[in-house]
Amino acid sequence: TFAILNGKLIERNQAKMDIEDRGYQFGDGVYEVIRVYNGKMFTLQEHLERFERSTKSIGVSLPYTMDQLKSLLLELVEKNNLRLGIIYMQITRGVAPRNHAFPEENVEPTLVAYTREMTRPKDELQTGVKTILTEDIRWLRCDIKSLNLLGNILAKQKAVEHGCFEAIQHRGQNVTEGSSSNIFMVKNGIVITHESNHLILKGITKDVILGLCSASGIPVNERAFTLKELAEADEVFLSSTVAEVMPIIEVEGKVVGNGEPGSITRKIQELFVNEIE
Ligand code: PDD
Repeated sequence: TFAILNGKLIERNQAKMDIEDRGYQFGDGVYEVIRVYNGKMFTLQEHLERFERSTKSIGVSLPYTMDQLKSLLLELVEKNNLRLGIIYMQITRGVAPRNHAFPEENVEPTLVAYTREMTRPKDELQTGVKTILTEDIRWLRCDIKSLNLLGNILAKQKAVEHGCFEAIQHRGQNVTEGSSSNIFMVKNGIVITHESNHLILKGITKDVILGLCSASGIPVNERAFTLKELAEADEVFLSSTVAEVMPIIEVEGKVVGNGEPGSITRKIQELFVNEIE
């Protein structure tokens, strides 16, 4: 299979990185994960725009126009014959002698992208998944899709060690987001999810869901909600590029609702599947 390294399509096993790449040493870069359904990139434009926003917010200048980037990704998907899977894409501040301060202007950012086959998590989408709670220990710019993911990694590992699919993070009493997903609760027919500010990633899937809700008359309240509200929710679900609209049937050992995916969650799942098929 092929990968993109700095604007060129090359054999994946020929794509080698320098030991002083700032992504490797500092996590100094940003990334995107894009879904491919039926050989087509889903919400590509939204991902490219977020990628551009992320690079701007860390002061990395993209050495490609959005159109160049788009054609590169199209070529990658085609060359790899990818039908169902993901594209992983990242850019770092480049290769330079280790120093916290930014390198000289002439240092080119390193762009990498590759594909991976990945099925839809169909069983979990049916049954729903279990989650745990964990304090959100991350920095205050979670809106940037940064390569620095230690907080997220530690949260996810804790979930896995408890036999759970995801860790729901909270800052004090307020639920923020999952380790790699956005979190929604439903109470009395209203969908509630944290507003997209500096404390969470503005999920592309989240925005698709909000659009679907608005188009089909499901009321949404975009605001932070508390652990107490979460514990008393009728339904809970999470969203991400890879997990789609995933029902949550357990939070920290406590059953949500009657222990089965709720009716509004089901409705949103149905609307979402219509989008991707
Ligand atoms: N993660 N919040 C965080 C912290 C995430 O890492 C992600 C996605 C999301 C959902 O965003 P989107 O709907 O745009 O995928 C929310 C990706 C999938 C990952 O790191 O693999």
